[in-house]
Order: sequence, then structure tokens, then C-alpha cells
Amino acid sequence: MPILPLGIPPEKYFYNRKDELKRLKNHLNALNEDIAEQILMTGYRGVGKTSLLKKLINEVPENILVSYVDISRIYGIQKGELTEELILSELLSSMNEAIGKKRIKFTEKVHGKLNQILNGLKLKEYDFREAGTLLGISIPDVKDNYLKLSQFVMQLPQRVVESSKGEIKGFLIVMDEFQLIGELKKPSAFFWMIRSYTQEQSNVSYIFTGSISRTSEIIDMINGPNGAFGGRMIQFNIEPFTREETRGYLTEKVPEITFTDDGFERFYECTRGIPSYINTFCNTLSSGDVYTAGKVKETFFKKMDQITVMWIKIWGTLTPKEKEIVVSLVENGPQTWSSLLESVNFSRASLAKYLDILKNKGIIGLNTEKNYIVDDLLLSNWLKTKREMDGYYPQ
Ligand SMILES: Nc1ncnc2c1ncn2[C@@H]1O[C@H](COP(=O)(O)OP(=O)(O)OP(=O)(O)O)[C@@H](O)[C@H]1O
Ligand SMILES: [Mg+2]
Repeated sequence: MPILPLGIPPEKYFYNRKDELKRLKNHLNALNEDIAEQILMTGYRGVGKTSLLKKLINEVPENILVSYVDISRIYGIQKGELTEELILSELLSSMNEAIGKKRIKFTEKVHGKLNQILNGLKLKEYDFREAGTLLGISIPDVKDNYLKLSQFVMQLPQRVVESSKGEIKGFLIVMDEFQLIGELKKPSAFFWMIRSYTQEQSNVSYIFTGSISRTSEIIDMINGPNGAFGGRMIQFNIEPFTREETRGYLTEKVPEITFTDDGFERFYECTRGIPSYINTFCNTLSSGDVYTAGKVKETFFKKMDQITVMWIKIWGTLTPKEKEIVVSLVENGPQTWSSLLESVNFSRASLAKYLDILKNKGIIGLNTEKNYIVDDLLLSNWLKTKREMDGYYPQ
């Protein structure tokens, strides 16, 4: 049985994405000319956004520092209680790590101070009265002072570049699973805060990415006409592998699997070129068999739990109300807001709240007629199949 990675692919498993990498690198190279571009990367769940960014991070030029923050990590640790302070301290911690990795002349000094600040933040002691300033930025000295903390964290990357006297030309900050910022009490304000700093910083680029549908409100909040970045962010959608890429990927990484032509077609139809499905599906196939369309279909239904493992995990994290909304959409197909409200057993306010959460999780989106739909075919197929086989939806 072939084994394809289910996490971030090691170099030898990473396939293609050459054009995307080239485009991203061009945007980053602008930092050398003191032009900082901001990027919003979208794409289906499992399409390979994180993998692509990790690859990019490994390949950025020596003179660019990189911070990578995964908001879902903080969200997970805090069991869903996300606050601005937590995001900022995670950001600060990843900046500190980035500085530590490069031996620049002030690494030791900055590292030492930042460690002290970070320890304080962990203990919720924002009291650094003794600390004074760092690279000319005053260190927050008031307990729980979000404003000062944000000033400090947001100014730090540009200040690092300036203080390095040419050694460092830019700071790249990647915020993965950024859609979870939508769970803050005032997400808009947070984006405006970031925007207010990026406007003045010519050497700090942000890449926001996550599992978001393109129609999610959070996209508007950050980059819509009235959003914080008002359309100035470069929107970058990562597409699934094309039919040819899927074929190329399979031939290169798992040549031991044999498909007939119609078998491959069926495989492509089932996975729609989404690498995470390609990988999990491949891992259920055997090298001794020849996969015809019929055999692919049969295996797909038999091994569905293994193939949709990503959704099984996510399903387990949804609340009963969120599940009820998804089930209603699976059973009734696309629905308007009001028909959805009729079909679920709770109030308008709850529906609005949970729909937002589901959109921000990339589970529900809007179709071209502006009706709500389940954004992932495999998720709805999995739920339908479970209902048929077990008589009820997964708990
Ligand atoms: N270019 C690639 N080559 C080979 N495998 C890939 C590639 N891109 C993604 N994958 C595989 O697909 C799976 C999903 O990738 P990844 O986690 O990067 O997707 P994502 O878009 O970040 O998903 P999510 O929306 O859930 O965060 C992983 O198992 C990874 O190994
Ligand atoms: Mg990801």
C-alpha cells in the first residue's frame, strides 16, 4: 500500500506549485525595494495552502525574516476563547523565534528582552516598568494594556529591519487559519489595527490564509470595499490540481498504483484534484490491483471514513446547533436564510451566530444564487452515506 503524507509534505513529496511559488516570491522581493505587499490567500480546505506557505518559508532569501502564526493553535489551546492579547503574544513569540534564527548583530540583546516580555505575558504581568525601550519602542508597562501591547508588537518587525542597517530587508508574517480572528468580539477593529500599521511600514509583508470560503464575511471584513484593507490586499486563490497535475502527481509519487483511463477519471471526480483527498484516497489503494471506474467507486464508498478523515475530525468539534445547520443543508440542498431558519429549531440570533461560525470555518458558503450550501462535496457525501448506512448522522 502506498503511503502519502497526511501532514505537511516533506520536500520529496511536494508536487509542483511552481507558478504559485514564483508569484509569491515576486511579491516578497518587493521588500528589497521597500515595498510591502499584503496578501490574502484563499482556497478549499485541504487544497495545500499551508503546505505551499511552508515551502515558501523554506525558500525565502536570507535577508528576510519570517514569522509563522497558526491561529488555530492558540484557539485550540484556549478552547475557543480567543483574545487579541493572545494573538499578539503568539505573534510576538514567533517574531522572537525568527530573530533568534538569524544571527544579526542585536540578536542576543533583543532575544533576551523579548523572552522576558513573553514570560511576563504568559503570567499576564504586563508590568515591565524597569524595561524601558527596545530598539526605540517603549515596552508596555501597564497590566492588560492592549493598546500598548499592540503598538509594541506591530512596530517591532519594521524596527528590526531598520535597526539591522541593511542586513535584513524585510519581515514576512504569515497568519494561518486567520478566519478564526472572526471569533474575536471585535474582529473588524483588529484588522483595522493591523492595517493602520502596515500603511506606514514598507518592509513588513503579511500573508493571511485559512480555511475560508471565498464568500465568507471575513474576506469582506479584511479586504472588501469597506473592509480594513479596502481591496488593497492581493487576493490569491490556490486552485486544486488540474486533471493533468493530478495525473502527474500520481505518476511521480505513487507509480505503483495502476488506473485504467476511466478509473483515473473517476478518481479525479471523487477527489476533484484536492491534494488532501488525493493522498487519503491513495492510501487506501493497493499496488497489486488495477483500478477501473467500478473499482474506484467501490473503494471510495468502502473507505469513505478514511478518505474524509479531515472532516471527521472537524465534525467532532462542531456544536449540536452547527451540526443541525449542516445536516439541514445536506438534506434540503441549497437554502435561503429564511428557509434555513424554518428548518432548524432555534432562534434568528442563534442561526446568524452559528452560520457565521460555519462560514468562518470554511464549511458553509454561498452559491451564485446567494443560497447557503455545504462548501465541500465530500463532507456532504460523507454525511449522506453515513445516514444511509447507519440510519443516523454521525454524532
Ligand atoms: N503541492 C503539494 N504536493 C503534495 N502534497 C500536497 C501539496 N499540497 C498539499 N498537499 C497535501 O495535501 C494535504 C493538505 O494540505 P494543506 O494542509 O497544506 O492544505 P490547506 O489548504 O492548508 O488545508 P486547510 O484549509 O485545512 O488548512 C496534506 O496532506 C499535504 O501533504
Ligand atoms: Mg492549512
